[in-house]
Amino acid sequence: MNQEFKQKYLDKYYKAKQKGVKFFPDIIYKDMIVSFGLFLLLLGLATFVGVANEPKADPSDSSYIPRPEWYFLFLFQMLKYFPGNLEWIGTTVIPGVAVLLLFLLPFVDRNPYRHWSKRKVAISVMSVVVAGIVGLTMLAAVTTPPQTEAAPLATSLSEQIALGQDTYSIQCVECHGADGEGGEIIGVEGLEGVVLKPINDQDVMYTFTDETLYNVVNFGQPAQGMPPFGKAYGGELGPGEIEALVAFMRYTWDDRAELPPEAEQRAAPPALAENEVPSYEVHIAPLVKRYCISCHRPGKKNNNYLMQSYAEVMTSGDHAPNVVAGDLGSNLIRMLHREEIEAGGPMPPTRALKPELIAIFERWVLGGAPETAEQAAQLAAPALPPPAETLQVSPVITITLTAPVTSPLPVTATLTVTVTP
Ligand code: HEC
Ligand code: HEC
Repeated sequence: MNQEFKQKYLDKYYKAKQKGVKFFPDIIYKDMIVSFGLFLLLLGLATFVGVANEPKADPSDSSYIPRPEWYFLFLFQMLKYFPGNLEWIGTTVIPGVAVLLLFLLPFVDRNPYRHWSKRKVAISVMSVVVAGIVGLTMLAAVTTPPQTEAAPLATSLSEQIALGQDTYSIQCVECHGADGEGGEIIGVEGLEGVVLKPINDQDVMYTFTDETLYNVVNFGQPAQGMPPFGKAYGGELGPGEIEALVAFMRYTWDDRAELPPEAEQRAAPPALAENEVPSYEVHIAPLVKRYCISCHRPGKKNNNYLMQSYAEVMTSGDHAPNVVAGDLGSNLIRMLHREEIEAGGPMPPTRALKPELIAIFERWVLGGAPETAEQAAQLAAPALPPPAETLQVSPVITITLTAPVTSPLPVTATLTVTVTP
């Protein structure tokens, strides 16, 4: 800083100080008023709005993912980039160096100017830091969203079994089969051709306690190809869902466990009357959920046919439409009949559906593939005969004689049509 500039600056500073306000008491007083206002605001918010409690801490819940307050999310995110034994760099070294640099700032940055255009280096460095913090925070918010509190998933045993059945259909069928029967895995990336023992027999049911089953699902058996399903291990299932899954397996496959009657009813396929057209929502969706969804949902790389909603069943897939109303030649029907067609092989790949279940799919497609029960009821209702006075008959009759007519005499044919309204 040159002398002349320094003198000018000091003069200016002196003048400003003369006419300026004092830190004590003026500034302190203003600060106090503002702090008090904020204090009242917080008090009001805490009293009248409040913050919802998180669920009680549960030391046995290994699926809980701790997550800091939003203003620490960037540090939290940064930690993810330092594997295990290098974590100390992220926790200590980097924040330590940042704080140290802040302390050293008056010694490092000797630039006398205040205007931004003369502080390009400082401003650039700061911008990078701020952008980094904002970016890391956003990344953390996206990759580790707050855990939604697991609502009590199922209260009664039959509800739990039903939830377990759904979970099994979505997560397990592709490898273990619709009923845990095992067999050769077909259509699953990475495990093509592996043969699984049944998990629905007494060998497994009598030797695995509920706790072991829970652990097998939670941790998986990665060495053998069984992926982990617990949220804490990279899967999709929370503790409640795994418990429901275990209840489902126990009550469905273990002959020592008595299935409560109402749960038994839920497991039965939906009944169909003689001339009833099945609907997607009542009849097809449960079958799809049980036998198809585990492979036909988002995230599967070996096919693009999603079956989680009516629209998806009707329109998605690389060979869409896989269902054509009224056409038993639809891909879906042909594949259920284990035909090998352009769209792919037999479905489900491992084992044919029971004929009575295929029949439900066929009656649905033939009946017009309706979505709702109401639409199906309209299709099923016999068409009412129109009232007599408006009866209109416009017959078109074509008669083709194929036998050679050789008689020299004229040939006459008489056709009598009687219409009785
Ligand atoms: C990607 C394929 C795959 C999926 C999906 C899968 N498993 Fe497995 N599972 C396996 C393999 C492979 C094994 C090892 C089989 C063996 O050791 O014979 C296994 C083993 C098991 C065992 C132990 C069987 C035994 O005799 O040791 C159980 C129980 C089991 N799985 C349950 C489930 C449940 C419940 C689900 C659904 C949440 C599921 N699995 C989903 C592939 C899978
Ligand atoms: C074990 C996994 C698995 C199960 C279970 C399964 N699929 Fe598939 N599905 C596939 C794969 C993989 C393809 C891709 C074509 C192929 O490889 O054969 C496919 C393709 C299809 C296609 C052709 C889609 C298109 O547009 O290319 C239809 C239709 C189909 N499946 C229907 C069903 C139905 C209906 C069920 C249930 C009854 C079912 N699948 C169950 C794995 C499965």
